[in-house]
Amino acid sequence: MQDKSTMRTEVLMAENRVLNPSEQIVSQANLSPENYERAIKQAQNDPDAYWADAANELEWFQKWNKVLDDSDKPFFKWFVDAKCNIVHNALDRHIKTANKNKVAIIFEGERGDSQKLTYYDLYRQVNKFANVLRSLGVKKGDRVAIYLPNIPEIAIAMLACAKVGAAHNVVYAGFSAAALKERIQSSAAKLVISADGFFRRGKVVHLKHVVDEAIIGVDTIEKVILVKRAGEDIKLSDKRYSWYHELMDSASPYAETEVMDSEDMLFMLYTSGTTAKPKGIVHVHGGYMVGINRTLNWVFDIKPTDIYWCAADPGWITGHSYIIYGPLIAGTTTVMYEGHPAYPGPDRMWQIIEKYGINILYTSPTTIRMLMGFGDELPKKHDLTTLRLLGSVGEPINPEAWMWYYENIGRSQCPVMDTWWQTETGMFMVTPVPVAPLKPGSANKPFPGIEAEVVDKKGHPVPIGEGGFLAVKKPWPAMLRTLYNDKEKYKDVYWSIIPGYYTAGDVVRKDEDGYFWFQGRADDVLNIAGHRIATAEIESALVAHSAVAEAAAIGVPDKIRGELAKAFVILKQGVEGSDELAKELKKHIRSELGPIVVMQGIDFVDSLPKTRSGKIMRRVLKSRETGKDVGDLTTLSD
Ligand code: WT7
Repeated sequence: MQDKSTMRTEVLMAENRVLNPSEQIVSQANLSPENYERAIKQAQNDPDAYWADAANELEWFQKWNKVLDDSDKPFFKWFVDAKCNIVHNALDRHIKTANKNKVAIIFEGERGDSQKLTYYDLYRQVNKFANVLRSLGVKKGDRVAIYLPNIPEIAIAMLACAKVGAAHNVVYAGFSAAALKERIQSSAAKLVISADGFFRRGKVVHLKHVVDEAIIGVDTIEKVILVKRAGEDIKLSDKRYSWYHELMDSASPYAETEVMDSEDMLFMLYTSGTTAKPKGIVHVHGGYMVGINRTLNWVFDIKPTDIYWCAADPGWITGHSYIIYGPLIAGTTTVMYEGHPAYPGPDRMWQIIEKYGINILYTSPTTIRMLMGFGDELPKKHDLTTLRLLGSVGEPINPEAWMWYYENIGRSQCPVMDTWWQTETGMFMVTPVPVAPLKPGSANKPFPGIEAEVVDKKGHPVPIGEGGFLAVKKPWPAMLRTLYNDKEKYKDVYWSIIPGYYTAGDVVRKDEDGYFWFQGRADDVLNIAGHRIATAEIESALVAHSAVAEAAAIGVPDKIRGELAKAFVILKQGVEGSDELAKELKKHIRSELGPIVVMQGIDFVDSLPKTRSGKIMRRVLKSRETGKDVGDLTTLSD
């Protein structure tokens, strides 16, 4: 019997819609089914030449002596000895072309206010802010923490850091003071760039007091710069604080772009692994810009007239690679939206598409499922005919949501690119291209140059149709270079689990056509609305509460967000479980980790299933919770 997804594929194939590359689909990158196949072969036979071609699409101050240095595995180096700066490619070079007067950023505030910055405007602002940073003593090699919402200043701040050679560490503006503090401390940042607040769901989200709390006792922080976004009446009494607009007023509009080695750090971004401590993923200037430029151009088929909207937040890798750096390098117009996708009404996204005539929309399955819940009528009320390509990222997209997106948002005319990648990979890894057949619910095939395979724990390929681990055989230019200050862990976590491979931590199966079907995380990491949270982070937050003795967290399936967290808690002696206490613990998790951790529930229990060596068997809790077979219990101690 056929499952729904393949059946639907055949429907698509029969209708011959997505299959045939139309005039509309032949890209600026000149992608056609033939040269896509050719690229896959070229990349297999001569990866150095393939990636050198990709690198030659960009400008370098000095070219490389070698494309890839793999003499010190897994510490790979790309474009060895080359000199460059990603900002030169994202901004400086556009000022010499017709892009100078093209709109770089369209900003839509939640309250409907809007702002457009041309490449020249953005270039000016970035130069000024680079001068501000330099005047405050920020220099090449320093780290700067950025805690800003989705407003143009976050792009300006990131680009200015890169321009002066400082590494940015963006912390998502939904994170709590504790999470911000930890990230500031572990990167030993000199400076924090934040805002008074921003607008979300019709309210002001205050940020300044979060920063106040986060920098208590952190002596590396010399300065805090605040953007006035919410217009709060705040007096800055602490000498370390300054207003962004005041500093910008007196800054000069020209700044030199620092010459960087291609392997110099561009940014670090913290992400969840299996331990309670987030990992500082390190990305560099050279290979990163090559990888994101090639993938964005080929997968989203960027055209000179495009208006492109990636509805993510710059606080995640998606925003770094595909709201800010990638689109600006490609010279396209990138849209930034400050607020909630369903505020003030559930058709806000469709209204924004209509308002600006957006051509490409890139969003998450969570958002698609949420909007799907409001019915088919709302998108029909808006003119969405400018859309010609859709994208999805963050978690597996179920075929139903894929089809809804395709039919109701894309009028059954826009190919849906389900892009699989990670904070660590920096760029799309397994992804469709708009010139090859699609299967709803599948992320299709590895991108040319990516040798991804489905293997077992020992690295042996698993048979077609069976689940295995996603593993990558060869390095790629935008890959993480290390974990900040933790080379050993970088080796252990990514390159030692399956010998000879990069291990992603995802379970996947490959079908008879070589298409990949992702099934979720293999490790103890939840994916709530596309955000990674380790069960260990939730557990450690819980045991930090005075009432809790032990805790175990698991993920449970959720129709909209993909997964929610559920916790099992053993209370300290003498403490009674109650609804109030459960509520308090939920609040506690929120304040420790931020609102991205959505709890389905907290159960008070007397014991937890453990192995004889004392490890909590989350698998047992999970199968009990989801009504699945508990499986092998021989290692259970009780
Ligand atoms: C994890 C990476 C990459 C930007 C957003 C998240 C899951 C991501 C897909 C997809 C199935 C996906 C994986 C991956 N994931 N995209 N298209 N299909 N799963 O970045 O926080 O580093 O999370 O998100 O499990 O490992 P991240």
